[in-house]
Order: sequence, then C-alpha cells, then structure tokens
Amino acid sequence: MSWQPKILAFCCNWCSYAGADLAGVERRQMPPTVRIIRVMCSGTVDPAWVLEAFLEGVDGVLITGCHPGECHYLNANYHTARRYRLLEAFVKEFGLEPARLRLEWIAATEGVKFAEVVRDMTDKIRALGPSPLRPEEGVR
Ligand code: FES
Repeated sequence: MSWQPKILAFCCNWCSYAGADLAGVERRQMPPTVRIIRVMCSGTVDPAWVLEAFLEGVDGVLITGCHPGECHYLNANYHTARRYRLLEAFVKEFGLEPARLRLEWIAATEGVKFAEVVRDMTDKIRALGPSPLRPEEGVR
C-alpha cells in the first residue's frame, strides 16, 4: 500500500463530530487518514496542541467547528478563526506547507462536506509527502 498521510482532526462535539459520524453512517467514501479528537468547541483547541501534533509527526491538522453564528458558546468560533490566522503564521515558520493546516466549518448535517474535506486534504498532503517535522524524517 502506498504512503498514507496521518491527519489529526479536532472536531466540535456539537457539529463537525456529528458530521463525521454522519459521513460514516452514510458510508461516504473517505480515506483512512484521519484520527479524530472530539472537543466541546473549536474555541477550546489550544494552538499548542496543534504545534505539538506536528512535532509528534502528524502530516496535517484539521480544525473543524460550527458555522459562524452557530457556536454553542456564543462567539467562541470567531476566536478560533482569529487564532487560526496566528497558527498559519507559526506553521509557516516551522517550514510546513499551508495545505497541512486547515480550518472548516461543518454542521452536524454535513456528512458529505466532512468526507469531501477529508478526501481533499488527504490528496493535497499526499502530493506534498510526509511532514518534514516527522521524527523519522530526521529533522528533530
Ligand atoms: Fe461548535 Fe463552538 S460549539 S465551534
């Protein structure tokens, strides 16, 4: 089997986690490249977790949350969006390609979108190859 990227996805309990579940229930075609961590809100995703994931060897990080205006914790996902801009800058400083980090708003009813995002992100990272920060790549 050819090389498969490892993608870590932080999924909001109220929306995208259910969207991911729906994608599975509906048997949407998805590569087996994503490992999901369920969080109560995308706003709880600490940027340090993202950077640590890259340092531990994941090839991509996907952050997903409720659509703007639909966060269960008022406007926490607007904080997510602002923090994401900072994370993009950090990732660039680490020498990682922008396609390795992604933020998507995915509702509980959007199993199709979840599957599409996973397929698209997997294809883009597969084209890039393993993360240069992977421990076995010898950078660390
Ligand atoms: Fe889903 Fe905040 S509760 S992003």
